[in-house]
Amino acid sequence: MQRICVRLAKSHAEQYEIEIASGALERLGEAARGALGARAQRILIISNPRVFSLYGENALKSLRAAGLNAKHWLMGDGERFKTLQTAARALQFSAEIGLERNDAVIALGGGVVGDTAGFVAATYLRGIAFLQLPTTLLAQVDASIGGKVAVNTSAGKNIIGAFHHPRFVLIDTDSLRTLPAREMTAGWCECIKHGAVGSRKLFDDTRRFLQHTRDQSFASLKEYDERLSKLIAEHCRFKAGIVRGDEREAVERADKKSRRILNFGHTIAHALEAATNYRRFRHGEAVGYGMIAAGEISVKLGSLDVAELQTLRETIALAGRLPSAADVDHDGIISRLKVDKKRVEGRLRWVLLERIGRARVVDGCEVTERTLRDALRAALRYDSVA
Ligand SMILES: NC(=O)c1ccc[n+]([C@@H]2O[C@H](COP(=O)([O-])OP(=O)(O)OC[C@H]3O[C@@H](n4cnc5c(N)ncnc54)[C@H](O)[C@@H]3O)[C@@H](O)[C@H]2O)c1
Ligand SMILES: [Zn+2]
Repeated sequence: MQRICVRLAKSHAEQYEIEIASGALERLGEAARGALGARAQRILIISNPRVFSLYGENALKSLRAAGLNAKHWLMGDGERFKTLQTAARALQFSAEIGLERNDAVIALGGGVVGDTAGFVAATYLRGIAFLQLPTTLLAQVDASIGGKVAVNTSAGKNIIGAFHHPRFVLIDTDSLRTLPAREMTAGWCECIKHGAVGSRKLFDDTRRFLQHTRDQSFASLKEYDERLSKLIAEHCRFKAGIVRGDEREAVERADKKSRRILNFGHTIAHALEAATNYRRFRHGEAVGYGMIAAGEISVKLGSLDVAELQTLRETIALAGRLPSAADVDHDGIISRLKVDKKRVEGRLRWVLLERIGRARVVDGCEVTERTLRDALRAALRYDSVA
C-alpha cells in the first residue's frame, strides 16, 4: 500500500491522507471511521448508476461494518449532469436523510461525481466532511486532489464552485480494471502532462510504465498492480506539491511552481473540445493534442529542442490512440481562443516547455496567429501523434 500525507498551506495545520492499493475499497469503512472520528453517524455516497453497480454494494457493506449508517444517491452519468440542478437534488436528499455536521459525503466515481459531490459537501450546512473514492485514472491522479469542487452552468464549465479539501482519498487501483480504454488514455495524457511540466523523472517513469504495459512485459499481475500503485502515488504527490504551493491558484502568479503550469496543453484542448461540441474527445484526449500543439509552439519560439518534442509525441502515442482531429477546422479553434482571450481581460497566457520537466508561462502576444496555425497544422494531422 502507498500512503501519502497531503499537508495544506503552511499557514494552517490541516492535512489529509491519500491511500493507494489494489483492493483498498475493502478498507473504506475503517478509513472513513479513522478520518471522521466516533461522532460521525451517517454517510451519504454520491455516485452514478454505472459505477455504483460495480462498486456500490461493497462500499456500503464496508461502511456499515464500521458502524456507519450509509445511504446512497445516484446522479446521471456524464458531464451534462454536473449541474446546479443535480447538486440541488442531492442537497435536498441530504436534508431528508438528516445528515448532520459530523456526518460526511463520499464521492464514488470519476471526476464528474467527485466535483458534484464535493460541491454538495462544501455547501451542505456550510460545509461537512468529504471523502473521495475516485474510480477513474484521471480522478485518481488529478481531480480528487487539490480541493477544487464545482458544477457547470450554461455560461461555462466549473462556473460555480468552492475550495473544499477531502478528509481523505482512498484509491483502489482494481477499479481501473473496469474502466474503458479511452478513459485510461485520457488519464494517462494528464499524467504525461504532470511529468512534462514539472519532473523529468515522473515523465520517464510514466513512459516506462506505458511501454511495459504495451509490451506486456510485467512478470505478473501482482507486479503490474504494485508498479501502478507506485506510479499513481508519484502523480498524487506531484499534484499535491503544486497545489500546496499555490492553493487558490493566485491569478497574478505565472512562475514555474504556480498551479497555472498544470494548464499545459489545455488552452488548445478546451478550444478543440468546444469546436467539436464536446462530443468527439474525452477531455484528456484533447489534452493529448493540446500538448503536442503547445510543444510545436515551444519549438517554433526556439524554447524547446525538436528531439524533446518527438519524445513527447511518442509518449502520448503510448497512452493510446486518440480520435482523429485531422478534419477539425482550424478557424473554429482560433475563434474560440479569441473568446477565451476576452474572458481573461485580453491576456491569454500560454504554458510552453523549455524541456521535458520544465514549463514556462508566456504572454499570449508572444504567440502570433501564424505560429499558432503552423502548430495546429503539425499537431492535428491524423498521423501526427505516433
Ligand atoms: N476538481 C479538479 O481539480 C478537477 C481536475 C480535473 C478534472 N476535473 C473534472 O473531472 C471531470 C472528468 O472526470 P473523469 O475523466 O473522471 O470523467 P467521468 O467522471 O465522466 O468518468 C468517465 C466515465 O467512466 C465511468 N466510470 C468511472 N469509473 C469507472 C470504473 N471504475 N469502471 C467503469 N466505468 C467507470 C463514468 O461513469 C463515466 O461514464 C470533469 O468534469 C472535469 O472538469 C476536476
Ligand atoms: Zn485537464
